[in-house]
Amino acid sequence: MKVAVIGAGNLGMALIRNAMKNVEIIAVRRRREEFQELEGVEFVYDIQEAGEANVFLVALKPHVFRSHLETVGDVAKSKPVISFVAGVRLEEMLKHIENPFRGMTNLGIEKRGVIACYPPETAEHLRFLESDFIYCETEDELDAMTSYLGSSPALIAKLFHAFVISALHQGISYDNALKAGISAFQSAAYLYSKYGLEDTIRKIATPGGTTAEGLREIAGIEKGFIDALIAASRRVDEL
Ligand SMILES: NC(=O)c1ccc[n+]([C@@H]2O[C@H](COP(=O)([O-])OP(=O)(O)OC[C@H]3O[C@@H](n4cnc5c(N)ncnc54)[C@H](OP(=O)(O)O)[C@@H]3O)[C@@H](O)[C@H]2O)c1
Repeated sequence: MKVAVIGAGNLGMALIRNAMKNVEIIAVRRRREEFQELEGVEFVYDIQEAGEANVFLVALKPHVFRSHLETVGDVAKSKPVISFVAGVRLEEMLKHIENPFRGMTNLGIEKRGVIACYPPETAEHLRFLESDFIYCETEDELDAMTSYLGSSPALIAKLFHAFVISALHQGISYDNALKAGISAFQSAAYLYSKYGLEDTIRKIATPGGTTAEGLREIAGIEKGFIDALIAASRRVDEL
């Protein structure tokens, strides 16, 4: 099986690093000087050269995809085209592309990650990727995933960095702060999904203890985080 990745930039290369474990790749980009030697990956520099692929993943910038919708449709014919492009809706794709689908993910997909899909059967065309799937019920939900799945790692990295800085300030070495941070962020997600917020806090915090002191201070940053994610989500409508 051959998979074309149209737009081998940041997201495209992350998808390629995951997919190359299981399928042959035709990677389409524009600049020849950015060629990389990767086993099982053939780089080409024109969308027209990707015609022999069985499935097409699109990771172009929105304005670039819009100006190449017809070319992608001509090359893919009736084969599935899964767009990871923010804000370009199925209705727009259908004008030139016969069999369009939409996905959203983030750069973590290079290792393993989650792909949000709309419509849900999109996942059937992405089984060659080592990934879990979120099945979106509407296209609006998929659009919102651009912020909550695509952009959020950058925002959360800022919180993670604040964690590391704080640990350094308190005399913990950089490497140990990193290890502690990875464990704390992973544990928080695990405990929240298993026990919910209240039980997680009840199990960790002792009255008058260290956790309670921290919780008192953290109330201020919650609104900022909520607003940041909503602002990122609203931006999708303008693309
Ligand atoms: N970056 C993320 O974290 C992320 C997360 C979720 C979704 N997305 C979505 O993924 C899409 C791409 O974002 P990105 O950050 O990966 O952008 P990017 O790094 O700029 O990658 C875009 C790629 O498109 C290629 N390209 C441009 N014009 C082309 C053409 N005419 N023919 C073939 N290839 C062409 C570029 O090639 P050259 O490099 O050779 O110029 C580049 O490799 C966007 O729609 C974005 O919404 C990104």
